[in-house]
Amino acid sequence: MATFTLPKNSKISGKGKAHAAGGDGKNVKTFKVYRYDPDSGENPRYDKFDIDLDECGPMVLDALIKMKSDQDSTLTFRRSCREGICGSCAMNINGRNGLACTTAIEDCKGEVRITPLPHMDVIKDLVPDFTHFYAQYASIKPWLQTMTPEPSGKERLQSPEDREKLDGLYECILCACCSTSCPSYWWNSDKFLGPAILLQAYRWLADSRDEMTGERLDELEDPFRLYRCHTIMNCANVCPKGLSPAKAIAETKKMVAERHI
Ligand code: SF4
Ligand code: SF4
Ligand code: FES
Repeated sequence: MATFTLPKNSKISGKGKAHAAGGDGKNVKTFKVYRYDPDSGENPRYDKFDIDLDECGPMVLDALIKMKSDQDSTLTFRRSCREGICGSCAMNINGRNGLACTTAIEDCKGEVRITPLPHMDVIKDLVPDFTHFYAQYASIKPWLQTMTPEPSGKERLQSPEDREKLDGLYECILCACCSTSCPSYWWNSDKFLGPAILLQAYRWLADSRDEMTGERLDELEDPFRLYRCHTIMNCANVCPKGLSPAKAIAETKKMVAERHI
């Protein structure tokens, strides 16, 4: 049986700080936010932030920005586009992975608990370390690979029907909500590529212009890289863009199987 040892100072303990809301206090919601600075030598804690919703935008990201602006400037999180395009504000909100900028506060029941994406090392507070995730992304060579010159000598054309095959794949914003909700990825992320990267891998397998299909399948045909997916479907349930990595993985498995018929 596997045994696990948590890294030093990683258990949540100690009294967190409480930050009172400004305003008239008539429409206050409490957010419980994970705080951790591995360099401090202190254990993680939850801080409580009371936010006056009458003075705050509608999304969870608006609340985080208000906490940082008005209550504790050391609170650390990633964000950029604030409209569900960059993927940087992915975090766990009330037990579910999602984007803070597209999650409405009114849809969060009770006290809102915010933690970093699960099963990733934490750099600080809500900022996980994506180094391994990006290395796995680079490993699938996420670019068009060709061997033959384009006949027209110009751009590589694609029929509307072939272009349609990329729908449901190209929209992925690499937020990692899916991979970090996948139990197989939690336990085997050293070798299993996980749903986000496998969806990206299939995006190139499905591209009619790519000429390295065989080589790409050779790389994927592995008991861990591809076959650690057991169709648990958490990935499709959490994707904030409504994509289905599980379907892309199933299509990839089918392509691999068809090579052996
Ligand atoms: S379907 Fe596969 S990749 Fe998606 S959550 Fe389940 S095991 Fe993970
Ligand atoms: S498939 Fe969805 S959840 Fe997974 S990385 Fe892409 S956008 Fe995020
Ligand atoms: S800030 Fe870009 S996806 Fe949320």
